[in-house]
Amino acid sequence: MLYSTHESGGEAGGEMALERLVGSTEREEDRAVETSLRPRKLDEYIGQDRVKENLRIVIEAARARGESLDHVLLYGPPGLGKTTLAQILAIEMGVSLRITSGPAIERAGDLVSLLTNLKTGDVLFIDEIHRLARQVEEVLYSAMEDYAVDIIIGKGPAARSMRIGLPRFTLVGATTRLALLTSPLRDRFGIIHRLDFYDERAMLEIMRRSAKILNVATDEDGAHELARRARGTPRVANRLLKRVRDYAQVRAGGFIDGDVAREALARLEIDQLGLDETDRRVLSAIVEKFEGGPVGIATLAAATNEEVDAIMDVYEPYLIQLGFLQRTPRGRVATRLAYEHLGKPYAASAVARAAAQLTFLDPDGDDE
Ligand SMILES: Nc1ncnc2c1ncn2[C@@H]1O[C@H](COP(=O)(O)OP(=O)(O)OP(=O)(O)O)[C@@H](O)[C@H]1O
Ligand SMILES: [Mg+2]
Repeated sequence: MLYSTHESGGEAGGEMALERLVGSTEREEDRAVETSLRPRKLDEYIGQDRVKENLRIVIEAARARGESLDHVLLYGPPGLGKTTLAQILAIEMGVSLRITSGPAIERAGDLVSLLTNLKTGDVLFIDEIHRLARQVEEVLYSAMEDYAVDIIIGKGPAARSMRIGLPRFTLVGATTRLALLTSPLRDRFGIIHRLDFYDERAMLEIMRRSAKILNVATDEDGAHELARRARGTPRVANRLLKRVRDYAQVRAGGFIDGDVAREALARLEIDQLGLDETDRRVLSAIVEKFEGGPVGIATLAAATNEEVDAIMDVYEPYLIQLGFLQRTPRGRVATRLAYEHLGKPYAASAVARAAAQLTFLDPDGDDE
């Protein structure tokens, strides 16, 4: 058996996710160099061309009219540059940025005080906006639409409602899960963009840019190797670069060529495609414990000791992108490519086998 489900407790899953080198969620070490690596202008923001061009147009138009920017919703897997884009929007508009997150705003009053402290045009960035408390979210509706909030003053029979006007601010919301957003909230965003995994060319450019900023010497082969294994995610690219730089410094006089990159990544147990031990564990579980699936997400989480959210937000999107995993109404299914990557003979999933059997039993049956 490749893994054990009983050696680590339920909580270990969460911690392991935090410690993952190729994990796309943010960590303390990322924050240290974040300021230097984070693009500050739209022109420095690599890839996501369609999103970038759209934003360039709305920024220019708003500036020309002297108006504030419409509310913007950004969604997609972690580490693809949502926070970075929010910061760029504020810089390009020449306004201040306030950063908060859904779970951090506990009461409606917290949101009201955030809003009343904004100036005209300012950007309020709410990360994980799908996790806003219901009462907080309701305050946001009128704030976004009417630039006003209703507050209750006093208690009991003397209580009365008062409307407070707000400056014309811009809300930038970010979420990894668009489906969890209520439709009244989603409908109040004028601009909605999905961020996708970056293609190889963009990843290479990001790798080169980061290497230059961090003053790390690489050759073509080395940069390619790192870019290819960073799972289409800039945050992972930066993290791999820093880790491999350490290795290169100690073992190779600081220079990252292809061999140094491959050696360092092999030591870190990151494979050709950027998958780490956890990705492989999720895939092997589907293949070995559930005969290739379909397996429900909760069952898969229990079998791998990971949290449902972590699988859905962090591991699964990239496995789907690679074509290793499929989401079906009955659960997750491992594909032939996944079997090949794990070096296992492909056995069609239970569903595929059942379908094949039906055809066999009833060769003249209507197979559409
Ligand atoms: N388009 C880009 N070009 C160059 N570097 C980028 C780009 N997008 C992101 N980065 C780098 O990746 C890092 C992570 O990006 P960011 O924090 O914006 O991700 P995020 O989508 O907000 O993630 P999360 O969902 O976890 O909040 C940034 O610090 C930045 O250095
Ligand atoms: Mg972020």
